[in-house]
Amino acid sequence: MNRTVLVVGAGGREHALVRALQRSPQRPHVICAPGNAGIARDAETVAISATDNDALVALARDRRVDLVVVGPEAPLVGGLCDALRAAGIRAFGPSGAAARLEGSKAFAKEIMAAAGVPTARSFTVTDADAGRRAIAELGLPVAVKADGLAAGKGVVVAQTADEAHAALDACLVERAFGDAGAAVVIEEGMSGPEVSLLAICDGEHVARFPAARDYKPIGDGNTGPNTGGMGSVSPVADIPDDLADELIEAVHRPGIREMARRGVPFTGVLYAGLMMTPAGPRVLEFNARFGDPETQALLPRVDEDLVDLLTRAADGQLDDRPVRVGAGAAVAVVLAAADYPATPRTGDQITGLDEAAAAGAELYHAGTAADGDGRIVTAGGRVLAVSAAGRDVADARARAYAAADHVHFAGQQRRSDIAAGL
Ligand code: AMP
Ligand code: GLY
Repeated sequence: MNRTVLVVGAGGREHALVRALQRSPQRPHVICAPGNAGIARDAETVAISATDNDALVALARDRRVDLVVVGPEAPLVGGLCDALRAAGIRAFGPSGAAARLEGSKAFAKEIMAAAGVPTARSFTVTDADAGRRAIAELGLPVAVKADGLAAGKGVVVAQTADEAHAALDACLVERAFGDAGAAVVIEEGMSGPEVSLLAICDGEHVARFPAARDYKPIGDGNTGPNTGGMGSVSPVADIPDDLADELIEAVHRPGIREMARRGVPFTGVLYAGLMMTPAGPRVLEFNARFGDPETQALLPRVDEDLVDLLTRAADGQLDDRPVRVGAGAAVAVVLAAADYPATPRTGDQITGLDEAAAAGAELYHAGTAADGDGRIVTAGGRVLAVSAAGRDVADARARAYAAADHVHFAGQQRRSDIAAGL
């Protein structure tokens, strides 16, 4: 009997996971809940919300699912993997307690301090007066971060004291992020190139991916408001494999050890957002999952059986070695809807998808839907990612943009400088 794998989530990351799992020589049957219009073309989709733990457990049980792979942070923090494991179902992803590494920046800082992981000096505060003292103590620029999940909007890097105080008050006084802003991490400002280093963990062992980079601001040259990510690339020239190995030993390994020591072993993807400062690498944040859109440039490069790899991780049987990837590079270019990130317009018809795929790219859908007439229309801010592999970054970049040129919809926004100059 073929194995059945359930992917939970609805974005481009989950579409990339579905495709990569389907490439397994085990020829698994892949189900995605809830998925999206593009995922529905490739796999069976079931209309259950990613945060409906009871319904997902029932689905996994009814369909005798062998492995559940959870994409987004909200279900992880909400204990979906705990609920699955309690029902005897194999899950790839951290427990709710371990996902606090992403769900609470204050907790992440506490773990980093205890484990000796390099990160910026910081204070965690719950009242505005203490916050002002911390801002004065740390000097400018200073990063003001809502403790909890804030959909990427909870961080302000303030250049002036007024800006820092406003960000502090937004969290603690105006409660702009609700409970997620009831505590605030105030961190020394740093500068340097950023890199995303993701590793599969089984509570003890670590299998890293090559370094990746995402491009958060909407505009070329990193201008304009931050988004969920406008594109990604792997590898990153300034982070060769030997440096990535060193970073794993300085960051992921001690982090995982400290979690295990506390009785909350971390199983899943530990994603470190790093800044390469003049004083050395510093962790900006931990995420407890695959990055989006990094995954869209990482998984096309994987050259081993992902079903086997994630099953081993879930079972605590991971080999302590990097994930095997092919030579070359991959680049993903995100096509976003009109008026994203403020209030993305929906319902615009998308054309050219088949032509783009025929040009040799992978099209990972994120915000798409099928309308009544079978047309694919925009249905979210980030509409899709066009991902291409190549012999090097420049080649992958050229292929991704050439394929993306085929895709049209009204008001489309895309950056023209993803992976440029690398
Ligand atoms: P985070 O969600 O903590 O990764 O922060 C989001 C973004 O804010 C990062 O990708 C950085 O570009 C920026 N950032 C966060 N912390 C700092 C810091 N201490 N100094 C400078 N920039 C920062
Ligand atoms: N690419 C940023 C994230 O996944 O959080």
